[in-house]
Amino acid sequence: MVEVGPRDGLQNEKQPISVDTRIALIDRLSGSGLPVIEAGSFVSPKWVPQMAASEEVLAGIRRKTGTVYSALTPNMKGYERALAAKADEVAVFGAASEAFTQKNINCTIAESLERFRPLLEQAQRDGIPVRGYVSCVLGCPYEGEIDPLKVAEVSGALLEMGCYEISLGDTIGVGTPEAAKRMIEQVSAKVPLEKLAVHFHDTYGQALTNTYAARQRGVAVVDPAVAGLGACPYAKGASGNVASEDVLYMLDGLGIDTGVDLQLLADAGNFISTELGRESNSRVARALTA
Ligand code: HMG
Ligand code: MG
Repeated sequence: MVEVGPRDGLQNEKQPISVDTRIALIDRLSGSGLPVIEAGSFVSPKWVPQMAASEEVLAGIRRKTGTVYSALTPNMKGYERALAAKADEVAVFGAASEAFTQKNINCTIAESLERFRPLLEQAQRDGIPVRGYVSCVLGCPYEGEIDPLKVAEVSGALLEMGCYEISLGDTIGVGTPEAAKRMIEQVSAKVPLEKLAVHFHDTYGQALTNTYAARQRGVAVVDPAVAGLGACPYAKGASGNVASEDVLYMLDGLGIDTGVDLQLLADAGNFISTELGRESNSRVARALTA
């Protein structure tokens, strides 16, 4: 489980969220035993104001031994900020859609790859692992259907450049299980299954089912967000990620040992839901709390 709540979960919130709240959330998440936490992003604060103080967040957390704290970095400037903030790992983020790439990072797919290349070279010299995201893998808010071959092409390019793992993002949550499996099959021609992760948003209520389908197809890494928080500000209609509590409950049921404590994870989700003044989107957290 790659927990993306503190980044994907909070980046699109309209209300202000304090640095202290972001830190408290991350510390609760690490306390539950999650192995990887995406703690923030080093993007332009004009583009995504909620992630502006990610330096302060990374400086303020209680670092737990063995927990990996990662951050999004769109370019060299972001990478340098992440390095100075002592992120353990960074992630570049591209997409299989030209229109979404323009809206999200203000360039073409080809330009985005050229922008990531020096970042990956520098990260390799610094010994910082880089993850690669590909958005819009099962549909785009601007272009509609996306050819799985395009997803495979961008994923393959990121792998070749040095990303150790490619996370396939259903940014607007329109995918269904068989479509997800077909897409993974196409991508696995370019990227071995053990280097793939899935990142499902839950707009149409398919995210947990899609996670299970991806697992059946051999993908062992998933990016959930606690309390089902999340959305991308540049993807109209996108909703939260698959809830971490719901994924963990399913994995526990499958007998997969993650080392994550369900009750402590639900407590973290309830904490941030209370801070945001709303009910958790996790069905499991709601059931446990009832
Ligand atoms: P741009 O305007 O083309 O950038 O934005 P630029 O290089 O022309 O620079 C313009 C200004 O931004 C300059 O400042 C730069 O210094 C500054 P000025 O001279 O005007 O004062 N700047 C920066 N400041 C801080 N940190 C930086 C940085 N870079 C430039 N790293 C840019 C291009 C990529 C920066 C912009 O489009 C951006 O920040 N986009 C980020 C959008 C974003 O964060 N989206 C959400 C994350 S993606 C997502 O959610 C999907 C995912 O979850 C997977 C899925 O669900 O599919 C990952
Ligand atoms: Mg996302």
